Amino acid sequence: MRSFMGRDIVSLKGVERSEYMHVFEVCERLAPYARDRRNADILSDKTLVTAFYQPSTRTRLSMEGAMHRLGGHVTGFADAKMTRAGDFYQETIKDTIHMLEYYGDVIAMRHYQTGAVAEAAHWSSVPLLNCGDGWGEHPTQGFSDLYTVWQERGHLDGLHFVLVGDMRMRTMHSMSYAMAQFDIKASYISPPEMALTDDFKEELDEINLQYEEVEHIDEVIAKADMIYMEPVVQPDYTKARDERGDDVGLTPDNYRVTRELMRKAKTDCMVFHSLPRMDELDPGVDATRHAWYWREAFNAVVTKMALLALVLGKME
Ligand code: CP
Repeated sequence: MRSFMGRDIVSLKGVERSEYMHVFEVCERLAPYARDRRNADILSDKTLVTAFYQPSTRTRLSMEGAMHRLGGHVTGFADAKMTRAGDFYQETIKDTIHMLEYYGDVIAMRHYQTGAVAEAAHWSSVPLLNCGDGWGEHPTQGFSDLYTVWQERGHLDGLHFVLVGDMRMRTMHSMSYAMAQFDIKASYISPPEMALTDDFKEELDEINLQYEEVEHIDEVIAKADMIYMEPVVQPDYTKARDERGDDVGLTPDNYRVTRELMRKAKTDCMVFHSLPRMDELDPGVDATRHAWYWREAFNAVVTKMALLALVLGKME
């Protein structure tokens, strides 16, 4: 297995099964700090730089929270408009990264352009963690979702994941790459204009993912071990900021998960949503045993602790 030390986490494409398992093991070792609300001193000599060019509640704050839990330091920006990258100068990623790499030891970046984090990683002398790039990928979310399923089930092989929503979403791409490393079958459900692209289907075939596309969640609800959701009422992820207008549509039943629908599911079916949600995930599901998005939010801190400790070479 390759070492994580010094590595960029830009994509889940190419991350191997043994590497997921290694991250999960490190998560198990570090989770007690988060569970007990204690801060360690494992990264007390390290600084995280956050560079968020797009809004975020969970990813940035769980990344910063993870760094604090390990005793590390945090600097950075949550709004590029308050930097030279987001004002009149439109400073390039190359020039911006050449500055940020002097200010800390690892960079966590979200950007509205697909590929921008990969470009940043190309120029950076310190590890880059992709916290979402346009429609591209969201690997830290994928690690956290998969860890949560593994922790509950004790395995990933043999499970059936149902992915519902906008298949252009970065979470869907990262999860698809991850599923292919395990014996996981996938059912994709999306409006036609948000379906898997032909190029992405070619990639899925290349990585031997067993999958099908279906029209309505009713068709597969009974066999789902895990439901992975994204809104179909979406912002444009290629924009730095996308304000909501008045003409927000409603989600068709094909792509909605309700408490009533979950009566048809296996008793241990796990529902995941990276959040924020629109109307596709009924709040009535929140208080059921199927709601795993809250646990995932806790595990997002744990997995980021593990990734930070690994790429900074403090854990092997
Ligand atoms: N899960 C997630 O990416 O949420 P944020 O956009 O709030 O970071």
